[in-house]
Amino acid sequence: MEQNTVNESPRIKRIAVLTSGGDAPGMNAAVRAVVRTAASLDLECVGIKRGWQGLINADFMMLTRDSVKHILPQGGTMLYTARSEEFMLPSGRQKAAATCRMLGIDAVVAIGGDGTFRGALELSREGVPVVGIPATIDNDVDCSNYTIGFDTACNTAVDCIDRLRDTMQAHERCSVVEVMGRNAGYLALYVGIAAGATVVLVPEQEYDFKKDIVERIQAARLAGNTHFMIVVAEGAGSAMDIGKRIEEAIGIAPRVTVLGHIQRGGSPTARDRETATRMGYNAVRALYEGRKNLIIATKEGSLVEIPIEEALHMKKHLQMDRYNIMGVMQLGALKLYVNEN
Ligand code: F6P
Repeated sequence: MEQNTVNESPRIKRIAVLTSGGDAPGMNAAVRAVVRTAASLDLECVGIKRGWQGLINADFMMLTRDSVKHILPQGGTMLYTARSEEFMLPSGRQKAAATCRMLGIDAVVAIGGDGTFRGALELSREGVPVVGIPATIDNDVDCSNYTIGFDTACNTAVDCIDRLRDTMQAHERCSVVEVMGRNAGYLALYVGIAAGATVVLVPEQEYDFKKDIVERIQAARLAGNTHFMIVVAEGAGSAMDIGKRIEEAIGIAPRVTVLGHIQRGGSPTARDRETATRMGYNAVRALYEGRKNLIIATKEGSLVEIPIEEALHMKKHLQMDRYNIMGVMQLGALKLYVNEN
């Protein structure tokens, strides 16, 4: 419910915002939204640099509406990011909580993935209220259908694969492309469908090299295709190894491309900017209205608040029906998987 907020006396006066874990396009948009929403509520905003480690080290900057000018279209994160081993220890979290007391920080907005939220939960146990915003190109935050950065990374990978396809088509070659995603196949599956891959390998689905790769390439060849695109999620195997095995099995020499960190950069898409802005706004509103220790997640297109502890026990699944659709597009070979999401 909207409130006439400016004249009310806020329960909190100063919040901090940080980005942690792998950066994702749209993190800056979320930082901007946090800062500007805070400003609209007369809250002060402290930017913590380098994630949880920055909170331990009191590595901070004051943020105003003007400090976040021009960052909306920028990839990366103006606050820098890091993965902190020290924060995994109780002593590290106690230092971080002490920083909050020293700087008068009443609550922290943490932008990142599940690792960031595990840290947030532990910090909340030290008495610091937190709200999490899901941002990772992997889309592997279990409590949220969508994470900031995923759409941009998908579009970047598809753009790269389209370029590869041009040259593969010209030389009638096979391409094996490795995409990121850590232990999850969301990026690979979405990109594979969008780029018209011959085969997509994801960690969630075991594959048989002969049946799922060799025979599919052969079937595609029989169907008249002269170039083949194999998309491999990094969690499903090494593109280099798969390329070698394809060469040994059928005598064609695939060209292997590991897209790597190129997928994490670039200007965020409209979807990522818009989602990040709404999430940042909702995170600050939640804190201002007295709700804490939760994650702003997406559910069926809307934003919902999920207690962090509950969120970390949730499980989402790759939509295996998308596999079937991909099979139909390529070979008409419909496999029946359970639609789990
Ligand atoms: O979580 C985001 C991600 O880009 C993963 O897809 C990838 O496995 C990992 O981070 C790479 O991490 P680093 O930046 O440490 O190389």
